[in-house]
This record gives sequence, structure tokens and C-alpha cells, in this order.
Amino acid sequence: MTGKLTIVGLGPGDAELTTPAVTEALRTATDLVGYETYLARVALRDGQKRHASDNRVEIDRAMHALALAAEGRTVAVVSGGDPGVFAMAAAVMEAIETGDARWRDLDVRVEPGVTAMLAAAALAGAPLGADFCAISLSDNLKSWETISRRLVAAASADFVIALYNPASKARPHQLARAFELLQRHKSGATVVLFARAAGTSSAALEITTLANATSKPADMRTLVIIGSSTTRLIERTAAQPLVYTPRAEVVRP
Ligand SMILES: C[S@@+](CC[C@H](N)C(=O)[O-])C[C@H]1O[C@@H](n2cnc3c(N)ncnc32)[C@H](O)[C@@H]1O
Repeated sequence: MTGKLTIVGLGPGDAELTTPAVTEALRTATDLVGYETYLARVALRDGQKRHASDNRVEIDRAMHALALAAEGRTVAVVSGGDPGVFAMAAAVMEAIETGDARWRDLDVRVEPGVTAMLAAAALAGAPLGADFCAISLSDNLKSWETISRRLVAAASADFVIALYNPASKARPHQLARAFELLQRHKSGATVVLFARAAGTSSAALEITTLANATSKPADMRTLVIIGSSTTRLIERTAAQPLVYTPRAEVVRP
């Protein structure tokens, strides 16, 4: 098969955070496939076709992209952030595994991007300076039981926890439930960060503690970071505190 399919990550928002390799894959594609909000961030060049779809139809979108590549087109599947983090790269792999056997012979590549967790961490300082994990709070593809088991395990292992998909209109209550659960397993003084629209000109950071955290500041463009027992603030008079997690397990005061 002659077609090519590249799954690209645009990064968190600002064009400067899109890698040159992603820009090149977008430039050379004949067809751009993706969620309409992400495709809107890409300028079309002459002759290029845009195939926009709703956010919830990832497998259909992946199959459509693979079918286009199988026709010999050069396809870019567009994700926000990194395409391998709670995004289209896994959906395309699922479609290849379960779909038309000929799709396995396509030239399939993944071009990484800056994931939201990294842009959010950079807003605050270095909260991911020691061991961390990422959990999606969306229960579209897994049960709440699985999510709560993983939250408790992450808390008991004292990971810094990055929460993707903390809230949406369809799922307003999960973050509050996650905080309730974590409050039972972690100190109330644990640092909690709400990073909204990280990596864009409207980025905003809210710093609080687990005891005071509510789900109010979170929406679909928010990444929540819950510190480990060593995550701390460096207070400053003229600027927001720096938040970091020391690299060493035992830190000298
Ligand atoms: C379906 S996940 C996609 C993640 C994406 N693939 C990535 O690597 O960032 C969407 C979630 O990512 C987070 N997110 C995406 N962009 C963000 C940004 N600029 N600032 C903060 N969080 C963001 C939010 O938690 C959002 O609900």
C-alpha cells in the first residue's frame, strides 16, 4: 500500500509549541482528519482536504483516516497535546488491530507533541520533578471503580498525580468525588494546582491545598495536578509562588 498516515499532536495551544516535525507533517498531508476544534487550529493549504468530526467518534474517525490512506492519500490525523496521551494514536492503533488486515501494511507514524501535563507543570515551576503518574477522570471508556482504584493506588504510592479530563458538562461531579477520595488517603496540606489553557496566551494557574480544593475551577481545558508529600511552594513577594517537587526523596530543609 502506498498511502501514509501520520498521527500528530499540535501541543497545548500556542503555535510556537507545535514542533517543526508536526508542522511539516501537516504541510505535506493531502488530508487532515480530526476533531473540529483541533482542525480549526491548522491553516489549510491549497488542495488540502479537511475531514472534521465530533469529539466522541474517535474509532470512526480513525477508520476513516485509515481508509483514506489505503486509497493512497497522505493523511494527518490531528490531536491536541500529544497524540499518544488520551488521544488519537491509540484509537488508530485499535482500528488497525481490529480492522481491515491491509491497514497493517500502511506507512503509519506518530509525531509527538507537548502534552497538557507538561505545559501545566511549566506554568507552576517543576511539580513533576519526581515520580508522577497521569490519570484521566473520564469514565467514557472505563468504570469509575477502575478510576477510584487507580487514584487510591497513586495516592498510596505517593506519586504526583496529573488529572486529565477532570470535568465536562456531561461529567460535572467526578473531580469532587476524586478530591473526596484523595482527602482520605493524603494530607490536607497537599498542594493542588489547577492549570487552565496552559501553553496559550490565556493560561491561568490556581494554587490551593487538597483540604481546600473544590471542583469549581475545573473545566474541559483544565489540567489538575495533585502534589506528592514533598511537593512544596517557594513563596515570593513580587510573583506567584514557585511550585516544585524535589528530585530527592529526602530533602534538606
Ligand atoms: C482528551 S484529553 C487530550 C489530551 C491531549 N492529547 C494532551 O496530550 O494534552 C483532554 C484533556 O487534556 C487537558 N488539556 C488539554 N489541553 C489543555 C491545556 N491547554 N491546558 C490545560 N489542560 C489541557 C484537559 O484536562 C482536557 O480535558
